[in-house]
Amino acid sequence: MGGNRTYTMVKPTAMRKGYMAAIMNKITEGGFKIIAAKMTKLSLAEAETFYAIHNERPFFGELTEFMSSGPIMAIVVEKENAVEAYRDFIGATNPEEAKDGTIRKLFGTNMGENAVHGSDSDENAKIEMNYFFNDRDIF
Ligand code: RTP
Ligand code: MG
Repeated sequence: MGGNRTYTMVKPTAMRKGYMAAIMNKITEGGFKIIAAKMTKLSLAEAETFYAIHNERPFFGELTEFMSSGPIMAIVVEKENAVEAYRDFIGATNPEEAKDGTIRKLFGTNMGENAVHGSDSDENAKIEMNYFFNDRDIF
C-alpha cells in the first residue's frame, strides 16, 4: 500500500479550454481531498527540471515547451493509496485509450495535451509537491 498523497497539475491546454474548475470538481467527486492548490506558470528551464526523468525521450522538447506554454494549476490531493488510485482515476496517458469517465478521456486533447499530470511513485510525488509548495501551504 502506498502513501496517502500525490501531486497533480492541470496542463496548459486544459487551462486554456477553461476546464480547470471542472477538473477540480471531478477530482473532489472522485474522493480525492484537495490539500494544496496554486495557479502558476513554469519557465522552460523549470519544465526541464520537473521532467528531467524524461530528458532522453524523443518527446522531451515538445513536452517541456508545452508545459511552459501557459499557466498550470498545481494541486496536492489526499486519498488512501493516492499515487495508484489517482493514476487509475485519470486514465491512460493517451486520452483515446483512457477509459470512459476518466479525466483524460473527458478533458484530454491528445497524447501530449492530456489534461493532467499524476505522480508515478510516492518518492516522485514528494519531490514534485515540494517543488511547488512549502509545507505551510499544504493542508
Ligand atoms: P504524466 O507524467 O504527465 O502524469 O503522464 P504519464 O505518467 O501517463 O506519462 P509519462 O510516460 O510520464 O509521460 C509524461 C508526459 O509526456 C507526454 N508524452 N508524450 N508524444 C509521446 O509519445 C508522448 N509520450 C508521453 C504526455 O503528455 C505524458 O503525460
Ligand atoms: Mg509520468
